[in-house]
Amino acid sequence: MTEAGRRRVGVLISGRGSNMMALLSAARAPDYPAAIAVVLANREDAAGLALARAEGVPAIAVPGRAFGPDRRAHEGALAAELDRHGVEIVCLAGYLRLLTPWFVGRYGGRMLNIHPSLLPAFPGLETHARALAAGVRLHGCSVHLVTEGMDEGPILAQGAVPVLPDDDEARLAARVLALEHRLYPAALRAFLGGEVFLPAAGAMFCNPLPQPPLAP
Ligand code: GRF
Repeated sequence: MTEAGRRRVGVLISGRGSNMMALLSAARAPDYPAAIAVVLANREDAAGLALARAEGVPAIAVPGRAFGPDRRAHEGALAAELDRHGVEIVCLAGYLRLLTPWFVGRYGGRMLNIHPSLLPAFPGLETHARALAAGVRLHGCSVHLVTEGMDEGPILAQGAVPVLPDDDEARLAARVLALEHRLYPAALRAFLGGEVFLPAAGAMFCNPLPQPPLAP
């Protein structure tokens, strides 16, 4: 695919940026339909910024605290950077600040998020601990469109992993994260290719692991 044929994506992060790096790696494939135009972080100490820069991608901190409680002003600064880099599609990847209706509206239908659970189960934080506490046998991750409700937008793709008997939070989180790194690039590709059906859930499903034997 020519550079001109690729959709320009801005990735918003707050921390380590491993999903951002998965998108970036996928975008190196000649036939991938997106190019990562810029990475923005709401924290100067987001580790992902240096990773993106090392890959030659513009990576800019737009610290939320510089704007105090004025989230709209902070988002205005984010939007200005996204515009400056010609961004059409926004991918949230571990972006930990609530978005205002203004920002969600500006990118309505073209902003994706990855969440570490099989939504609508376990929206919000600490999803792996909550999945273990609930005793679910399947856990996973979801890519969804961002709407005003937290983790509530239409689901584009999901991936599932088994919860194994000796799992703790760290083991389960690692299994889900490895799947996130496959699901997000695949979901973005499918979304841009018009291969997902909205608003039906479960348009794409990815299940890389053999299922554990059923308990007697
Ligand atoms: C991921 O688990 C993602 O699903 C969630 O936040 C985490 C970000 O991790 N929204 P990373 O920064 O992509 O490594």
